[in-house]
Order: sequence, then structure tokens, then C-alpha cells
Amino acid sequence: MRSNVEIKEGIHWVGAVDWSVRDFHGYSTMKGTTYNAYLVMDEKVTLFDTVKHSFKNDLLHCIYKVIEPSKIDYLVVNHVEPDHSGSVAEMMEIIKPEKLICSARGKKALLDHYHREDWPYEVVSTGQEISLGKRTVQFIETRMLHWPDSMFSYLKEDAVLISSDAFGHHWATSERFNDQVNSSELMDHCKKYFANILLPYSSLIQKLIADVGKLGLKLDVIAPDHGVIWRENPMQIVAAYDQWSKQIPKRKALVIYDTMWNSTEKMAKAVADGLVEGGISTQLLDLRANHRSDVITELLEAKAVVLGSSTLNNGILPKMADMICYMKGLRPANKIGAAFGSFGWSGEAVRLLNTALEEMKVNVVHPGVSLQFVPKHEGLHQCVNMGRELAKIIKEKV
Ligand code: FEO
Repeated sequence: MRSNVEIKEGIHWVGAVDWSVRDFHGYSTMKGTTYNAYLVMDEKVTLFDTVKHSFKNDLLHCIYKVIEPSKIDYLVVNHVEPDHSGSVAEMMEIIKPEKLICSARGKKALLDHYHREDWPYEVVSTGQEISLGKRTVQFIETRMLHWPDSMFSYLKEDAVLISSDAFGHHWATSERFNDQVNSSELMDHCKKYFANILLPYSSLIQKLIADVGKLGLKLDVIAPDHGVIWRENPMQIVAAYDQWSKQIPKRKALVIYDTMWNSTEKMAKAVADGLVEGGISTQLLDLRANHRSDVITELLEAKAVVLGSSTLNNGILPKMADMICYMKGLRPANKIGAAFGSFGWSGEAVRLLNTALEEMKVNVVHPGVSLQFVPKHEGLHQCVNMGRELAKIIKEKV
């Protein structure tokens, strides 16, 4: 997709649409993504961010529709992760800008990635402003949202916030604005993006929303580096981030499992039966059928996380190990948990799952159920009872 779009007079989307990417270091992007870059025409022509290296020609093509790239005066790098800075080296050669504007940590990250001491770095910090002519850009550092170098650029006169990764989503579309796409699907993509990328930084997001509120920025448009641009009620995505980052759970439980010969699956269904009987909305998530990043999206608003795995070679099944590794890094808060699993002769899985839950600071509220080989009715009854007990605890807490 190589059609640049004017967001406001003189402010152009010049990014790239990646229809084919399906894996973003572990996050499933089943509908692709976009790498957004923005070109501002003023006395100082300024390019905000670039695109993933393999899309540099798309970026150039879009810029050429507006201006000869060599006429760009400033390049702003809001974030150095290669999906946005991957074309910086080529663009620096073509543009030869007067200034390469970034945060102090952005400069360090650019040096660490591209090893170019000779670029014309101009380091900016929160509150600092640069005039482009008719327009003023104000910079707001957003450290660890989600890299140390991350930064927002705010075009004051136009009330346009170029928000880097924040408020984005992975969704390849021919449309560029939020009012042109299905709003329910849009929010689903945003929720998945939040859960899989920003969840560990929830407390920083709460602080950022408060700080931006104190700055009293008028926001007509929020232009993230992924997905569609928020021009209709842009504050809806800020409100959603406020809600998600509070991590207030609902009366919802996830029973996440992998199974060897279906015994652990029988147990999973029995645990889910107990939860449903107890009045809790429950999702049964077989890890062979559900991608880790979709599980995390469901986890965002769940109160209980119940893990099930058969014992394999004194450990747990590999898909569950993968799930735990991924979940641990995302640091979900305010959860209760429990574990279950079938075993043949040694039976370590439940103990290992409980330990993993504790390491994730999930409150383990039940010792778990471990059954040998194929469960009998009495064994499954223990699982149903565990589900019932968890349901009772969820209702006490939510
Ligand atoms: Fe879209 Fe952190 O890069």
C-alpha cells in the first residue's frame, strides 16, 4: 500500500502496510500490521520515524508523492526499535538532514544499532520544543513505553500527537483512520496489542496518562506508529489504556492446558464445569489450538488463571513451558491461580505449575489436583470441586 494520506493540512502519513507479517517476536499478527511514518511540510520539512528496513521503498515512494526526499530538513526518531528505525541509515544517506532529533536514550540506542557517530544528533527531553516554522513540536519522553528511548512528538498548533508505539495496534488495512474501520474489531486489536506489549508497564501508563493530563494537551488526532490513526474521538483509546492498565479483573477464569493422551484435558473440562457451575465466565484454552498471544489477551481481564499440564520427563509439556515463559515476562497483576495435571509415574507437573504461578506473583489459592493416568469419576469430581472453590474465591474478590 503506497498511498500517502493527509491527516491535517501539511501533515502526511507516509508509512507502509505489511499485509504478510504473522509473527512479531512471539506475538501472532494474523492480520498484519502497518509501520507509520509522518511527513510534516513546513519551513523545516520534517519526517517523524521511518519504517521496517524491508519497506524502505514504500516510505520513499510516499515521500516522493509530496516532496523530493533530499528536501527534508529534520528526521525525528521517536523510537529505535527496528520496525521504526530500520530505514534510518538509508534515509540519512538520501536526506542528509540538518538534524536527527531524538531523546538522549534514543541517541544511545541509535549508536548501539547503527554505529554512526557522525550523524547530526540533536538530543531533546520532555517539555523541549523545536520550531518548524509555522508549527512547534513539543517532545515528551515516554521511557520504557516500551523501550528506554521511546518518545512522543506533539504538534502543538495542529493538536496532533505522534505517539510512537503507544495507542497502536497490529492490523493491516487500506484505511488510515479509526472512523473508516469496524470499531469493535479495532478495539479487539488494540486490546491484544496492549496485553502483549504494554501490560508490564501498566503503572508507567497510569503515570503517563496523569502527566499528559497535567500538561493539558489538546488532542485532535493521535497518530501511532502502528495501525489506524485516531481522529474520531481520539480520547477513547486513552480511556481504554487507562482502564486496561488498572488491571481490574472481571469474574472470569481461564483454564489453560496442554495434554498428552487427553487425561489432562478431561481434568480441564471438569475444572471448567466447576467454575461455570459457580457462576464464573470461563474459557477453556487448549494450547495446541490457541496462540500464546491470544491467551494473554483473554488473561488481561480474567481473575483466575488455572494451568493444566501432563507430566513429561519429570517436567511439564513444552507448550505450557512456552506459555509460562511468555506470561511471566508480561507480569499480569491481581490474579488468583491453581494447577492440575495427569501423570504416569513421577507427577511433578502440578508442583512445577504452582511454583511458576507463585513466581508470577499469582496468588495460588488451591493446592491443585494431580491424578495418575486416566482419571476416574472420583478424580474428575476433585477437579469439579476445585473449580467450584475457585469460583467462590473469585466471587469474594471481584
Ligand atoms: Fe513498533 Fe517498539 O516498535
